[in-house]
This record gives sequence, structure tokens and C-alpha cells, in this order.
Amino acid sequence: MTLYRATVLDTPADPFTGGTLRAESDAAVVVRHGVIVARGPYAETAAAHPDDDVVHLESGVLLPGFVDTHVHFPQVRVIGSLGMPLLDWLEHVALPEEARLADAAYAAGVADDFLDGLVEAGTTSALVFGAHFADAVDTLFSRADRRGLRITSGLVTSDRILRDELLTTPERAYDESLALARRWHGTGRLRYAVTPRFSLSCSSALLDACGSVVKDAPGVWCTSHVNENDAEIAQIANLFDGTSYVEMYEQHGLLDRRTVLAHNVHPTDAELDVLAARGASVAHCPTSNAALASGLFPMRRHVERGVRVALGTDVGAGTGLSLLKEGLQAYFAQQLLGPAGLRLTAAHLLHLATSAGAVALGLVDQVGDLSVGKQFDAVWVRPPAGSTLDVGLRHAASDDDALATVFALGTPADLAGVWVAGDRVKGG
Ligand code: GUN
Ligand code: ZN
Repeated sequence: MTLYRATVLDTPADPFTGGTLRAESDAAVVVRHGVIVARGPYAETAAAHPDDDVVHLESGVLLPGFVDTHVHFPQVRVIGSLGMPLLDWLEHVALPEEARLADAAYAAGVADDFLDGLVEAGTTSALVFGAHFADAVDTLFSRADRRGLRITSGLVTSDRILRDELLTTPERAYDESLALARRWHGTGRLRYAVTPRFSLSCSSALLDACGSVVKDAPGVWCTSHVNENDAEIAQIANLFDGTSYVEMYEQHGLLDRRTVLAHNVHPTDAELDVLAARGASVAHCPTSNAALASGLFPMRRHVERGVRVALGTDVGAGTGLSLLKEGLQAYFAQQLLGPAGLRLTAAHLLHLATSAGAVALGLVDQVGDLSVGKQFDAVWVRPPAGSTLDVGLRHAASDDDALATVFALGTPADLAGVWVAGDRVKGG
């Protein structure tokens, strides 16, 4: 058994429903076969486990591993393109790069770059938008499996509007998706997600095929985009005779507890009610929403109408793989909404980046906080001595202030250790 000595911050009680930050300084977390078997004040816990190895993480803070509920692996090499709204950015930046993943060697390199980036950023669980090519998705799964990361992903499917190389047919989408789901869903820490790109690029027949995969591969997840940008929403209203964006997914059997839809910046109240009734989750992607000028996310309306919300980086429209940055930007967006915004605390940001993601991905019995019984997926924030974050942490007036400082200043370079199920995947 291994005992980790640290200041531990996590959010087992949801701050959106009255919970507060759980902060334990000089705590011990005892881990056996990757699972947390005890935790408590260091002195007494260490006395009860005298034979355990002690890993000293006393400076800085220990957080749960981050959960990214929306990120595109084929876009990791095109992060940071500025100045375009969604549909132009897709045409000129994202889709040309995604077409390159037809080449298996290129796709393997991208998958490695992406998985390296996740680990660097402290992301231990993610719902990953795959590629339009089955071989590239297969490569991502096999490389994620080797690293032991908790990855849910799938073949991205579309049969209209996008450039030709990225299009498929409903029959082929069904066959390839089902084969990948049968191969990978439940293998190690991997799971499959049926992934129609967005309603705009999918015919009804294709969405039906996606619904059939959900039925024929029980337990798989489903992910897509929804209500991201005004121009896209207007085109969808024209195409589908007024059927709403959310209804398009519902009508094809794609909306339930295992569905995560990204963005939802411009929902109607009726759409929010459908999402809440179905138990679907929304991945809020604040840097992407700002970069593409998609809009300010109406978090208050989601929370008040009972829709689950977690965080996604939405790389490559999002500006990096760090959920610390997304947390800060989520805070900024709510501030900019004025009275319509939610006043988020650091505890809300940590919850959004960890336990809310675990709930959205159905992993909350395994990860999301550092309670006894959970897997030891953890991030050690220990900035370089003398850095601004180090100074801020050493002078923080409270644990909540320390956590706010981590969100304000923390970057992947400040993460000195990352663990998945007790295996150290960064620093060490
Ligand atoms: N809608 C359809 N595809 C995409 C994508 O790749 N990124 C974002 N942000 N929105 C999308
Ligand atoms: Zn996206």
C-alpha cells in the first residue's frame, strides 16, 4: 500500500446544491491496487499504516484527476486559430486537418500528441470526439489502452455538407461504429460513444443508423454538438421544418442519461426541459465559445431547469487541454453575463472540472473526488518555487483562496504529478 501525504482539495458535495469545498491539510490518502482504502489526518493515518510507503506531496495541493467531457483528438495540432466563427473555422481550419487522418501514420502521430497533452494537463478521464476514419479511431483506442487512461470515444459520422473525404453512408456508419464498439467498449478503461458530428452534417437516415448502434451495442455513450452558434441554428431550423436541435437527437433515440451534448449556448427553455427529462448532460466549453464568438453560456438556466453541466476543452476550437483554464473562463463568462450569470466560486470550478464530469460520464462511482472507495486518479499542483502561483499558494488566506489561485494561474507546467488508478503517468 502507498500513503500520499498532501493537502487534499475535492468536491464530493455538489456546490450547485449547497455543498462546499472539502479541504484537508496534512492529510494521508492510502491507496491499494489503485483504490483509495483510507484517508484522514496524516499523523493518525500513518500510525495505522506503519508499513506503507509514503509519497511526500506536502507542498502545493492534491486534486482529483480532471475530467474533460468534450475534446476532439484530431484537432490537437490546430489549436489557436483565431478570428473565425464556427462554420468558417470548420471549413478552413478543423476539417482540412481532420481529412489528413485518413493516413494511418499521421493519425497515430496525432493520437500520441493528443494523449501526451491530456496527461500533461492532468486530464485522467475524457469523452473524446474521434476521427471520421475507423482506423484512426482504432489507433486512438489502442494507444489510450496502453496508457491506461479513461477514454470514451467513437467514430465521427456525417453524410452531408462536409468535404467529401469525411462523408460516409448510414450503412457504413452503422457497420464501422458497431465493429469498433464491439472491439473497444468495456476493454480496460475504454468505452464507446456513438458520435454523429452535428445535426447539420447528418441526414435523418444517418441519425437513425446512430440510434441503431446505441440499441445494438448496449451501454455505449452518445455525444454530439448542439445549439453552438446562431448561423448553424438558423440553418438547422430551415432544414428540419422547425424541429429543434435537441429534438433532432431525441427523435432518433440519441438522448438519454448516457448522452453528452457540447455547447448549448443558445437553447430554448423547451429544449432545456427535454434535456433535463432525459437526464442528458451538457459539456460547457468556455474558451471555445469565446474564441469562435459563439456566445456566453446560460449556466443559470441550465442549473435552474435541472440540466447536468460539466466542462469540456473543445480543443481545437478551445485554446488548450487544461481544465484549469476552462474553469477560469467559465467563471469569466458568468461574470460577463451580469445579473443573468451565476456567481461561481473556486469550489464550483473544481466541481465542474472533476466530479460534475464524472457524473456526466457515468464514472462517479469510480472517480471525481478522492473519497475512500474511489480510484486514485489525482493531480498534484506543485508550481516551480518562486513562481507567481507558488507565491500565491503560500500566501493564500484560506483553502478556497488557494484553489481560486490555482484556477487563476495554474497551467500544465505547474502539475508535478498525475496518477490514474494509482499509476503515476506524469512526473516521477
Ligand atoms: N460542430 C461540428 N463540429 C464541430 C467542431 O469540430 N468543433 C466545434 N466547436 N463545433 C463543431
Ligand atoms: Zn466540439
